[in-house]
Formats: sequence, C-alpha cells, structure tokens
Amino acid sequence: MAHAAITGWGKCLPPGILTNDDLATFIDTSDEWIESRTGMKERRISHVPVSDLAHVACARALACAGKTAADVDMIIFGSCSFDSQVPNTSSQIQLLLNASNAACMDLNTACTSGMYALSVANSMIRTGAINSALVIGAEVISQLMDWSDRDVAILFGDGAGAFYLEREEPDTGASVTENGLLAESLGCFGEARHILAVEGMGAKYANIGWPLGTTRWNFEGREIFKRAVTGMQSGCSQVIEKLGIEPADINIIVPHQANLRIIEALAHRLNLADAKLFINIKRYGNMSAATAPVALIEAVEENAIKSGDLILVPAFGAGLSWSAQLIRWGNRTTPINHSDIDLRPSSRSGLELVNEIAAQHKKNRPPEPL
Ligand SMILES: CC(C)(COP(=O)(O)OP(=O)(O)OC[C@H]1O[C@@H](n2cnc3c(N)ncnc32)[C@H](O)[C@@H]1OP(=O)(O)O)[C@@H](O)C(=O)NCCC(=O)NCCS
Repeated sequence: MAHAAITGWGKCLPPGILTNDDLATFIDTSDEWIESRTGMKERRISHVPVSDLAHVACARALACAGKTAADVDMIIFGSCSFDSQVPNTSSQIQLLLNASNAACMDLNTACTSGMYALSVANSMIRTGAINSALVIGAEVISQLMDWSDRDVAILFGDGAGAFYLEREEPDTGASVTENGLLAESLGCFGEARHILAVEGMGAKYANIGWPLGTTRWNFEGREIFKRAVTGMQSGCSQVIEKLGIEPADINIIVPHQANLRIIEALAHRLNLADAKLFINIKRYGNMSAATAPVALIEAVEENAIKSGDLILVPAFGAGLSWSAQLIRWGNRTTPINHSDIDLRPSSRSGLELVNEIAAQHKKNRPPEPL
C-alpha cells in the first residue's frame, strides 16, 4: 500500500522570550514554583499573527523536502488560535506561500490539532485523494491568554511546526520501506469538556454580549492532569496493539509537553524502559498544537531520532481530546535545502509583548461570570 512519507519538516519560534522571572513581575508566582510544578523555565511570545509563524515553518518544511509551494495539494492547519474563522487561516497560509494548487482546511482539537492534522493528511494521501500535504501545528495562545490568571498564564507559549508529506509507493523501490504515520488511536472525553475551556471565543458569546477579544479560562488543572495521563496511556496501549508491535519495538517517545510531571507519570505507567523520552518543555512551555510537532522536529535536529526509528507520540488537549500515534521515520534525517524566509524582525522582549497584550485586553472589561 502507498504510504505518506514525512519528507520535510520546519519550525518557527518567535524571538520574544518570557521567563518565569518575567511572569513573577506581574502575577503572584515564582521561578521555583513554576519549574518544580511544570518543568518550564521560559516560553516564546509572538509579535506576528499565527499565519506568519505557520508560513515560515511551512517554507522551511518545503525547502527541507526539496519541494516548492506549487507541489502542495493540501494545507491542513491545526490550531485553536486562528487569525480568523472566516476566511480560514489555512487560506492565508496558502496566499503567503503562493501555494495556489493547494486545498485549505483548518482543524481544531486544541493541543492535539497538529497531530490530528497529521492523521487526516496521512489518510487522504494513503487513499489517493491527494498526493501531498503541508500539515501544521501552530498557535499564538498569548493573544487568548488571561494574563491575570496565574493558573494558566504560566503554562503556555507560542510557536509553529510543519511537516511536508508525500505519497510513496513501497512496491516501486526495494529501498523504500513503509514509513510515516503507521497507526493512530484518537479519542475525546466530551463529558469533561468544561474543565478546560476558553470562554469568550465563539458565536454563543457574541449573542450574550461578550466584547470581541475578551477571554476567560475555566481550567481545573488537577483534573486535567489526571485525564491527560489516563487518556494518553490508554491511547498508547491501543495503538501499540493496533499495529501489532511489542512495546520494546519503540525507539523513542515524543510526547505532548504540557507538564513535565504529566510526561513522567505517563512514562512510568507505560513502562517502556528501553525507549528514549524527548523533552523540550523547559524552553517553550506548552505551545498547544505546535508542541508535539516542534518536539518531533527538534528530536530529529538533535539526532535523537534516526532513520527507521519507531516513534510514539501521545498528545492531549481541550475537548478533552487525546491521541497516540506511531510514526516510522524515513531514510532522511537532514534537510535537502534551507529556506531564507524568516519572520519580520522584532526588538521587543516577551515581557514587553505580554504587557502590550494585557493592556489591550484591559480595554475590554470582562463580563461577570455566567
Ligand atoms: C496547573 C498545574 C501546574 C498546577 O499544579 P498543581 O500541583 O496541581 O497545583 P495546585 O493547582 O494544586 O496548586 C497548589 C498551590 O499552588 C498555588 N498556585 C497555583 N498556581 C500557582 C502559580 N502559578 N504560582 C504559584 N502558586 C500557584 C495554588 O493556589 C495552591 O495553593 P494552596 O495550596 O495554598 O491552595 C497542574 O495541575 C497541571 O499541569 N495540570 C495540567 C494542566 C495542563 O497541562 N493543561 C493543558 C493540557 S493540554
């Protein structure tokens, strides 16, 4: 059967850095508390819209694959911080790339969006609906954040990761073994959807008088923590069984990075003693949909992933959505080309950017609780 090889990868992290000490300048928290409870030291804050982050990540992924924008059949943009709902953000990415042959689709399963997008593109390529796709996980959560709420403000950051997928026929070349996304397990705890909710985004809020741009988070951290571990654990067991492999066949786990303690609890329960664990949470915090894609890309860049490795990617997000995917990395672990496209420069620090966003939010007085 044809498979969807991942032949290009690219990330884009905005330059503005927000440290734990920066956070402690405007909310009641400390570097010690944040690091010991989450494993995070700093995160990035974007000075540009999410479509710009995605554009740069995609240009880098295309160069990495040795392709041009004209080669792309489909753009799937996984996110929950769209530039706009109508028109969708993937069409803006198409415009920026000049990828005029590509169909464009936005996909929102919150933190798992980038990985769900990978599943959708993979299936469409395998069935022959398309031959190639750009899959993106990108967020500017900083714009949706309630910067006065220490329960959530410490956890998130901005960024983008993109993959180029193309159809390969294993039968046509003896050197091509089946690679790319081999199997997934996807699910959702809909009955607990209220425990991770960004209130203010969506048509129902306009009807009851929420000012545009006002958000407030409903966030039950401890309950989310438990669900994250159980959701990802059951997803991992299911996908291992589905592919008919032994746990010992897995070379590396690249999990969604929401909290180091969640990752450690999951690793303990999975008991995959021989598999490596890739962690980059210290540098970026939780970038929602961008997290797992960027972690995968950095694992390749840092030679933690080798050609032919079997990679387990568990993820978790609002919904409460969960996923577990098994990916076989292909032959190539280095880019064919590099793109010289970059973000427009910015001299503003992460703290300056956050102060600007928070001041803007203050202009819209949040409504009383419903
Ligand atoms: C949010 C999270 C880090 C909180 O850690 P926790 O160990 O559960 O901490 P608690 O919420 O129980 O709070 C413990 C204490 O720290 C305080 N606290 C909470 N946030 C704080 C902060 N940012 N800084 C300092 N103190 C804080 C609490 O008020 C509480 O104080 P008390 O004991 O006096 O009442 C953790 O629950 C978590 O990571 N949950 C999952 C969240 C997540 O990943 N969501 C995204 C999914 S994709």
